[in-house]
Amino acid sequence: AASSIPADRVPDMEKRNLMNLLLLGAISLPTVGMVVPYGAFFVPAGSGNAGGGTYAKDKLGNDITVEEWLKTHGPNDRTLAQGLKGDPTYLVVEQDKTLATYGINAVCTHLGCFVPWNGAENKFICPCHGSQYNNQGKVVRGPAPLSLALVHADVDDGKVLFVPWVETDFRTGEDPWWS
Ligand code: FES
Repeated sequence: AASSIPADRVPDMEKRNLMNLLLLGAISLPTVGMVVPYGAFFVPAGSGNAGGGTYAKDKLGNDITVEEWLKTHGPNDRTLAQGLKGDPTYLVVEQDKTLATYGINAVCTHLGCFVPWNGAENKFICPCHGSQYNNQGKVVRGPAPLSLALVHADVDDGKVLFVPWVETDFRTGEDPWWS
């Protein structure tokens, strides 16, 4: 469920603790393989949750389907969707017109400003203090200390499903700082 607090106002630690709680909940269920199908059956349509993930929503609050998204978003597009816990998250269209399997959290790792995409520069450029991130959200200029957080952009029944990214950050080869 979306928080009523703007994402850029939520203290980082609180967000991380929430994330950890969510992950623990998912991992500690011994019968997660059985629970998910029943859960999917009983959860009312449109609730937005599925097995620890959250369906990506467009700006009108509708679930995003890959097919529709790719009709209106071309190669190298980076457009915001509503992500996990309501975080603004970029969906990425690759050069070959497929949807990337990752999304990029739009919250600057310096002081939390929202970072817009600059297609002409092929970068994300933070308006607050000038930090820059490449087209995958990897930091290329400070003062931001870290790359933008990743989420998985999975496809579930044709819809984009954001799932927490807990694996190695493929851009840096390091453990994710956000989980
Ligand atoms: Fe983005 Fe400072 S908040 S550069």
